[in-house]
Formats: sequence, C-alpha cells, structure tokens
Amino acid sequence: MKYDNILQTIGNTPIVKLNRFAPDHVDMYVKVESFNPMASIKDRLAYAIIKDATDSGALAPGQTVVEATSGNTGIALAMVCAALGHPFVATMVETFSIERRKIMRALGAKVILTPAAERGTGMVRIAEELAAQHGWFMARQFTNPANPAYHASTTGPEILSDFASERLDYWVTGWGTGGTMTGAGQVLKAARPDLKVVVAEPEQAALLSGKEWSPHKIQGWTPDFIPEVLNPDVADIVTPVNEDESMRCAIRLAQEEGIFVGISAGGTLSAGLKVAAEAPTGSVLVVMLADTGERYLSSPLFADLNEGSDDEWLASL
Ligand SMILES: Cc1ncc(COP(=O)(O)O)c(C=O)c1O
Repeated sequence: MKYDNILQTIGNTPIVKLNRFAPDHVDMYVKVESFNPMASIKDRLAYAIIKDATDSGALAPGQTVVEATSGNTGIALAMVCAALGHPFVATMVETFSIERRKIMRALGAKVILTPAAERGTGMVRIAEELAAQHGWFMARQFTNPANPAYHASTTGPEILSDFASERLDYWVTGWGTGGTMTGAGQVLKAARPDLKVVVAEPEQAALLSGKEWSPHKIQGWTPDFIPEVLNPDVADIVTPVNEDESMRCAIRLAQEEGIFVGISAGGTLSAGLKVAAEAPTGSVLVVMLADTGERYLSSPLFADLNEGSDDEWLASL
C-alpha cells in the first residue's frame, strides 16, 4: 500500500472476531482503532477538525493550533499539525499519563499542564485564554461539529460496509467528547433501525445515567460535563462500568486474544460482556477499542506486572 502522506492512513481500521474471550451464545467483534497512525480513535477527529478549518478558511497556513486534551487528541493533533506544517500547543490536566506528554513533544508540540483540582473544565479554560491572547486556532473537540460529522462519514459507514448483508445487533462505544457515539451511532441506527447503541461510562462519573461526576481512572472518557457535540438520544442502553473491571478486561483481551488495548477499551469490552450476557442467542456485537495499551505503561493498568526477571516462575517449573 502506497500513500501520499501519513494522514491518508487514518481510518479503515480492522474489525476482528473474538475467538476465546466472547461468551459462546453470541458473536463478538472489535474495531481496533489502534491501527490508526498514532494508535487511537482520536486521529479521526484531529484530521476532521484541521481539514474542516482549512477548507473553511478558519485556519490559515502555518497558524498555531491549540487544544485542551486528555492526551490522545493532543497526540493526534500533534501528528496532523506536524504533517501539515502547523505549530501545536496542548493544555492537559497534570494527572494524565507521562507517555502522552512525551509523545506530543516528540511530534514537536508544546504541552502546558493544568492543575488536577480544576479538572477538564480548567484545561479548556486555559486553552481558550491562550487562543484569545495569541490569535491561535482552537480545535474545540467538545463543541466542533466536524468531530461527529467525520465519524458519521467514516467510522459508521466502515462498520456498515464490513457487515453488509450480515446480522448486527449491538454496537458498543464509550464517550469522551461523544463524537464517536453521536456521529457513528446516528448513521448505524439510520441504516439498521433494530440495532442497539450501547454507551459505556465510568461508574464514578456516570453523567448519562444521571449521576454526579467524580474523578476516575478511565483516561479519555467522560469529562466533568456533557459536551455540546454529544446527542444523548443516540444511546439506547447506557452501561456504567467500574475501573477495576475495565482494567481486568483489557489484560484478559491481551492474554486471550493477543489484542493490546488501553483502560477505556477494556471498559467498553466490559460493557459489551454485560450486554452479551443478556442478549439473545446468535446476537452479533461490535465493540469499539479506542486505543493501544502502550499508552498506559506507567498507569495503574500495568501496576501488577513484574518489571524484573521471571525467576520465581522458572524455579517453579
Ligand atoms: C481513550 C478514548 N478516547 C476517546 C474516546 C471516545 O471519543 P469521543 O467520545 O471523543 O469520540 C474513547 C471512547 O470510547 C476512548 O476510550
């Protein structure tokens, strides 16, 4: 395969059947978004926003781009901006993983950390202030309609094309901005009126379930507000998951299927398992896996993994 630039490799991610992980009475597939060039679903959003702003003239050649991001969006924007010749600045809550900051800097971006106490709202405010002060273009992933629109024109149709003339009963996703669930979800429901959209969210911050927000470890999911681009009517089933079961699912998926994902992907799968447990025999589910496990090496996801030599195991043989 030959491409004119790295941006052309965004999207068209594989859908893979789970052979050992899924319960016997259903067929479970995963859409593996780590196949995007910077290994997360956010590559789609970054490309969508920059392309839309360039086409409309809102972003001038060489103009600096700024965004508030929990990491994957920053990494994706850093890649897109590097490829297109825009400087990029990310504002990010100080608690997000160190890998994310380093990857952004490696792609030429600047990273401004914001206090944990000010949560997601604080990083957005600081990005807005910087944009106003310096005349930078703010990507605004939480309010920019180019975000869900791109999922409506890529993520959703990709799934429909892979399941053309085949059964598909449930589509399971998490939410961060809500772009994926809203854009892809609307297209899937329009084409398959019987399909159920299942939306996973953290138990500690189950905003769509009408609960209060509190800090959670599922990076990329659920800021402390419901974003403008999120249409809650798209969700047929909202499934809260806890962070321990999310991490266990991510590790199980790696060890039982060889698919290496992050905490939120584990959470989405965990929601998929809950729905599968109640689903009629023969049901078909597609679960979105938003990013790669490599982004979480310093996070609680891998806290129990030995860093040294497996001598004890060897001695026990
Ligand atoms: C790590 C991560 N980022 C982002 C998202 C969702 O992105 P958005 O709601 O912004 O489309 C998910 C959703 O499942 C996720 O797990």
